[in-house]
Amino acid sequence: MSYYQTRPLADIPRDSEVGKTIPHESAIEHVTGRALYTDDLPPRHTGVLHAWPVQVNVAHARVEEIRTGAAAALPGVVKILTSEDVPGFNDGGIKRDQPLFPSEVCMYGHPVAWVLGETEDAARKGAEAVEVDFTELPAILTPKEAIAAGSFQGSQPVLARGDIESGFAEADHVFEGEFELGGQEHFYLETQASFAMVDEAGQIFIQSSTQHPSETQDIVAQVLGLSASEITVQCLRMGGGFGGKEMQPHWLAAVAALGARLTNRPVRLRLNRMQDMTMIGKRHGFHSTWRAGFTSDGKIVALDATLTADGGWSLELSEPVLARALCHIDNAYYVPNLQVAGRIAKTHKTSQTAFRGFGGPQGMLVMEDILGQVAPQLGLTAKELRERNFYQVGQTTPYGQEVPQSDRMTNIWEELTVTSDYDARRAQIDEFNASSPHIKRGLAITPVKFGISFNLTAFNQAGALVHVYKDGSVLINHGGTEMGQGLHTKMLQVAATALGLPLQRVRLAPTRTDKVPNTSATAASTGTDLNGGAVKNACEKILTRLAPVAATMLGVNPDDVRFARGHVTGLGTDHSLTWEEVVHAAYFQRVSLSATGFYRTEGLHWDAATFQGSPFKYFAYGAAVVEVEVNGFSGEYVSRRVDILHDVGDAISPLIDIGQIEGGYIQGAGWLTLEELVWDTADRPGRGRLTTPGPSTYKIPSFSEMPHDFRVATYSQATEPGSVYGSKAVGEPPLMLAFAVREALRDAAGAFGRPGTSVTLASPATPEAVFWSVQRVRTSAAEPALA
Ligand code: MTE
Ligand code: MOS
Repeated sequence: MSYYQTRPLADIPRDSEVGKTIPHESAIEHVTGRALYTDDLPPRHTGVLHAWPVQVNVAHARVEEIRTGAAAALPGVVKILTSEDVPGFNDGGIKRDQPLFPSEVCMYGHPVAWVLGETEDAARKGAEAVEVDFTELPAILTPKEAIAAGSFQGSQPVLARGDIESGFAEADHVFEGEFELGGQEHFYLETQASFAMVDEAGQIFIQSSTQHPSETQDIVAQVLGLSASEITVQCLRMGGGFGGKEMQPHWLAAVAALGARLTNRPVRLRLNRMQDMTMIGKRHGFHSTWRAGFTSDGKIVALDATLTADGGWSLELSEPVLARALCHIDNAYYVPNLQVAGRIAKTHKTSQTAFRGFGGPQGMLVMEDILGQVAPQLGLTAKELRERNFYQVGQTTPYGQEVPQSDRMTNIWEELTVTSDYDARRAQIDEFNASSPHIKRGLAITPVKFGISFNLTAFNQAGALVHVYKDGSVLINHGGTEMGQGLHTKMLQVAATALGLPLQRVRLAPTRTDKVPNTSATAASTGTDLNGGAVKNACEKILTRLAPVAATMLGVNPDDVRFARGHVTGLGTDHSLTWEEVVHAAYFQRVSLSATGFYRTEGLHWDAATFQGSPFKYFAYGAAVVEVEVNGFSGEYVSRRVDILHDVGDAISPLIDIGQIEGGYIQGAGWLTLEELVWDTADRPGRGRLTTPGPSTYKIPSFSEMPHDFRVATYSQATEPGSVYGSKAVGEPPLMLAFAVREALRDAAGAFGRPGTSVTLASPATPEAVFWSVQRVRTSAAEPALA
């Protein structure tokens, strides 16, 4: 196992920057507070206006009139933005079902107008003075209410393979159930922020905390009625995005840009935490019903399920999120006969969006929940049931894609079983539980298989712009954004390696749409694969031009020129040149020292109508073993130990990857065990209000919830052929390793009952939920968990 260390890499020159353990490029800035975020820029400008939303506190209503007179008369109120001010199209989304200044309130806290003030305080007071007359309408708040009312939006895909009826006929045991799983607040440290300015020619410049600058640009253009070339979007960095800044920044940037355009002054818009939590979409909660058939030796032979994503008030990214949920319901398991229907509930809540895993976790959770529940009823351990169903070499997914390296799943599973000392600890825990009536321990191991690439083939492209200056220094631009995940660090390592330079020779410029156009979101964990491919391509173009220059100087064939560690050498000569000498000579020979780079992922295809194809370049694999201890009186628990073995290919930046694995796991554990979004669904004033709109009521993991013993390792000898320097995407997959903590809690809860008790567990498995599981188990003698 490799643990915080580099190792020799297959196709990479020795001693290269790729594969080195280095800190994040902004680590010092992050910890000293020097790093600049969007909202650090406005104080550097004069005449800045501040934006504040007019939020209507009712879940569903028709807006009759917005009266702004009293607000406009207040000191410091400069402008009140309403739908009448929009020169272009009054919509903040790509689906055009997201009015920027709506005439219908669709969620509790929906902003219907924005006030610009000389100070934030003036804008806030102005917003409070805006009077909104409305007529309240009935609201739908939960997926179940939406199902009952037939309130759906978007397409309703079905993923199917084999013959579901003959699958059930083959089954020795058929189980069924209904399972509701909660969503998740992104809780990025930096809330949504944008800062817009207009230049003397009316061109708009926006600094936005956005994962998708090109689409921020598109939406601003749509609202202002301008063309994309008139708008530049920059993203210095984000204080976390986690998918929450893939779409949501756009409409906020549009409000700021509109304000700047109308007032000719810079406009700053930054949501405070409560505004962010009440207005911004979150991870989709899902409702599911399922029926699953198993043979007596524990093979799943049929799965029939309906997944209903709780989409919120507009479509936004719900369709692709649902698609990924369907394409991941198999997780690491071969299901020969399967039919999974998906649909999107339209509810009067925030419009739910991307969140690390992008629907994948929700689909996989349904399967893991089924396996965790039925294992005891099949007389198997959950570990046995899981491993009996792993993909075998040659089997395909329900959407018809081959599963390359499926043996890797088994190898990781077996290696982790050994390194985590699983069997011995299982025996120790059983022994402990036998003599401990009120405190029980649980142990579980769960797998992850996660497809890498955007389902929509067109998004799998990227661009880069690399400049070599006359002095030999290098500046790179690429289309990806930095949100803490270390993409910029990896791009510096890729460029240095591709050019044969030490890391210090390469600098990176902020992401901007005027440098690299038409970019895809930094999402689907593809940042490094796509932008790394583009950066490498640009660097290789430059080397192709420098090689003949160096060849002449060295007296060798251009093919025999080598660039490494800042030196340029030739095969068959002892002479060597410095990089700077070659660059200098090239400039005087009028050789271009700047290049664009482009990359697209080959071999992908996806038919959204039939839900068939090969949408993923490869799969990322991993497994986790978690041990917990549960207090039967209160349901409280601790994570005693976590062991992870995860496949990152040949790591470009090993320390960054370890950080992604640790962070992903913890964020997943938060989703599955702590974080509970509660909307007031009672029939009374305040119906539809998010009652957990801040850190005091919404509990994210903190130090006290960290595993007491946390062991993270990456799978070795894992070169991914055809990916940049043999690496694999790492951003999202580790989140799903956290299924193991939920299954360990189920295991511990089961220990309160008779051996072989099936345990149902709510998601999130909060201490309260665990307590109720324990109660059910204790009284379950007469009450079977499943029909
Ligand atoms: N890590 C940090 N520190 N902050 C983030 O916002 N976002 C995650 C993941 N890791 C995120 C993160 C999500 S949702 C994705 S899709 C990937 O990073 C995006 O970056 P990548 O494609 O460069 O991995
Ligand atoms: Mo990540 S949810 O794809 O931004």
